[in-house]
Amino acid sequence: MDARLYEKQDNVKKFEEGMIEYSDIIRKYAIDCLVQLDPNQTRDRRYDLMLDAGCGSGGNTPMFAEHFKEIIGFDKSKEQINLSNKKNVCDKIQYIVGDETKMPAIDNTVDLIWSMFSIHYMDISTFVEECKRVMKPTGCAIITGFDFADINLVQSEIHRCDSGMPAFAKYHKQAEDWFKTHSPAIHEICSRLPNVFPKISGVKKCRNDDLVGTVTLSLDQLKKYILGIPEYNEFSKWMEMHHEFDPLDESINEMKETWGLKMKADSNVIVHLKLSYFMLRFSKST
Ligand SMILES: C[S@@+](CC[C@H](N)C(=O)[O-])C[C@H]1O[C@@H](n2cnc3c(N)ncnc32)[C@H](O)[C@@H]1O
Repeated sequence: MDARLYEKQDNVKKFEEGMIEYSDIIRKYAIDCLVQLDPNQTRDRRYDLMLDAGCGSGGNTPMFAEHFKEIIGFDKSKEQINLSNKKNVCDKIQYIVGDETKMPAIDNTVDLIWSMFSIHYMDISTFVEECKRVMKPTGCAIITGFDFADINLVQSEIHRCDSGMPAFAKYHKQAEDWFKTHSPAIHEICSRLPNVFPKISGVKKCRNDDLVGTVTLSLDQLKKYILGIPEYNEFSKWMEMHHEFDPLDESINEMKETWGLKMKADSNVIVHLKLSYFMLRFSKST
């Protein structure tokens, strides 16, 4: 059910409108992993092939372009892939419809399989088996996502510098509780994938939960980003239908109140959103 939300044109449009650029530390982390796996290689080496599994509308795939001769983004949703191809300006990247059951690469040819915020829709053991098939002995797979660690005004705006996180966390908790029954897949990723790591087997695996990055955006963009994720949008609609209020608007108003900016338009309140990334990584064991 969840993955099919990305088949709807309207949801894909909203997802694209809300897209944010993730921090560069995650790109650096991935390349460092490849360097560690093949110590004869230098950091500025151009690798052969990367796959972006569940690439969505290709919003973040191009950040890897400088490191690879070829990148293939694949996604189950035709709508997402149509949009990725429309936007694509890089001739070394191609986007195709596909899923974890048959990754678009021949055996032992892929340096990096990257999957951001998509694994909760896939069958883990199939994903791992396919990674094992396509991955080079010096390659690796990285499954990643993040949650919200803090939110605060950018320095120049500071009236009161309290964190906006308590107000935001309240919203997040409400959403997570709702996902538990209405959308277990997204609940899994909101809880930092408790069931995924144990299911990765027959490979060398490790986990890193320590990367933190910051995105700067307006409260208006923050709202667009969150409501661009179809499940959060469904949650907001459900709350409006059953309780006649939007918990995200409440949370944003509470943040503005915390900062003494109640009368300011959301588009004029600029914040730093701190994201805490989790990286599950594996490579072939031989
Ligand atoms: C939250 S989006 C993430 C998109 C992108 N990785 C990003 O970070 O912007 C999840 C994506 O996973 C895709 N998806 C769901 N099930 C999939 C599957 N079994 N194989 C490939 N993609 C899948 C959806 O169509 C959707 O585009």
